[in-house]
Amino acid sequence: MHIFRKISEFQVWRKSQAAPLALVPTMGALHRGHGYLIEQAVLSQIPTVVSIFVNPMQFNQSLDLQKYPRTEDADFALCKNLGVEAVLAPEPTEIYPHPFFSSCEVSTLDKTLCGATRPGHFRGVCTVVLKLFNITQASLAYFGTKDFQQLRIIEQMVYDFNLPLSIIRVPTQRESTGLALSSRNTRLSPEERTRATCLYAGLQKAADLFKQGERNSFNLCQAAEAEMQKGLPFTLDYLSIVDQKSLQNLTYINQPALMALAAFFGEVRLIDNVELVP
Ligand code: PAJ
Repeated sequence: MHIFRKISEFQVWRKSQAAPLALVPTMGALHRGHGYLIEQAVLSQIPTVVSIFVNPMQFNQSLDLQKYPRTEDADFALCKNLGVEAVLAPEPTEIYPHPFFSSCEVSTLDKTLCGATRPGHFRGVCTVVLKLFNITQASLAYFGTKDFQQLRIIEQMVYDFNLPLSIIRVPTQRESTGLALSSRNTRLSPEERTRATCLYAGLQKAADLFKQGERNSFNLCQAAEAEMQKGLPFTLDYLSIVDQKSLQNLTYINQPALMALAAFFGEVRLIDNVELVP
């Protein structure tokens, strides 16, 4: 498996590869959720590249950036085991040479959910993802539905800019307790980790009611919140029901929808969602 720190070295290798590439963009600290994405990419039978880059441009809090877990050796070992062809793990100055003037602006889709409380976050995500698409010239790129808003915004960017690649959606991988796998879970205390299972329990509660025919967003959110109370104390950043395409809030569901949340356990921000499809 190749490990590239320099974009120019990656690009020399890329030119020697006639075949299409599959790309799995990550920020490292790889867990089984990332592993599943990588497995899907490798299964596509085209050479797979994993990028590992903790993107400063998408962090709102410098403390969150500083504390972001880094497990590079284990990440490389996992990629190698899963049959990855190359890892691109550049330094920040490689991705953002000084001075750096351009960025990819997002509108409307970033006004709800995580975008509402993290101004500029998706500009940072789109800028780095667009760069990674251009650097790797990938034909397929794999993204998890755990970060549904990110996935939807990237799909829209590909459409809006006529980018010559396909985005593959990969479902959220969970612990046996239901907690969505996340690099940030390692920052939870064992006690917080147990309590955090209430998030998925709440989402499931709403999904069950939805299956029984409840279509009113307020009622569904109320039921989810009541279930989540079992995991207090934590701070809910948002709990929303949105249209899957426009990501706009819905008061009543008669189209494919998403119930999504973000919550702080201590200083650790967790996100999760379930799809509600009539
Ligand atoms: P990161 O949080 O490392 O996630 C990389 C990819 O793994 C994303 O597509 C994310 O949705 C997916 N993923 C994370 N947890 C998952 C889980 N439990 N099940 C399935 N997939 C999961 O998302 C980012 O990095 C960055 O924003 C990035 C796109 C790399 C741009 O910097």
